[in-house]
Amino acid sequence: MMKKRIVILASGRGSNFQAVIEAIRQEKIPAVCVALITDNPGAYAVERAKNAGIPVNVVDYSAFSSRETYERALLSAMQQADADLFVLAGYMRILGTSIVHAFRGKIMNIHPALLPSFTGLHAQLQALNYGVKVSGCTVHFVDENLDCGPIILQRCVSVLEEDDEESLAERILKHEHECLPEAIRLFCEEKLVTDGRNVRIT
Ligand code: GRF
Repeated sequence: MMKKRIVILASGRGSNFQAVIEAIRQEKIPAVCVALITDNPGAYAVERAKNAGIPVNVVDYSAFSSRETYERALLSAMQQADADLFVLAGYMRILGTSIVHAFRGKIMNIHPALLPSFTGLHAQLQALNYGVKVSGCTVHFVDENLDCGPIILQRCVSVLEEDDEESLAERILKHEHECLPEAIRLFCEEKLVTDGRNVRIT
């Protein structure tokens, strides 16, 4: 099977990006990572890309006068990448509908909670404050709504009485680093079939 072309979008630390880089290097995923696109020139993800020899395309949010012009530039960067799959790995902005429509079924996101619970920012803190006994992470396709598209994989972790936001986030992150490469592998091996909200693994 031909290797898929994947592009990562990340805004920060990039530990999930690193997990994907390693999985590709170990040939666990039949893909080539053709670019990192970031909205944040100071993101540590940029260093990770450079270390791995992956081209970086900075679409600096702060350099645009409006959200619309930023979105147009991002759309154009994504089109130029000619990718089979875009992976949001800690990309901290909501994608506009023009982008979601242009790449339907070709964008995945990792979220640090068991969706549909605790969407948006500080999902781990939301879980703690709610008092749930399990939380986890979700990899899903992106649709028009925040943290809402069809779910590909989920992993659970226990929430401990002594947890704070940091300790819970750390425990969930370990699972993210397995779950995201696994979901990308399934996509690249053409094993994901989406039927409405349901994603079947064939
Ligand atoms: C992860 O917890 C991810 O689920 C969320 O943002 C965080 C990014 O971490 N969307 P990193 O940049 O991959 O280290």
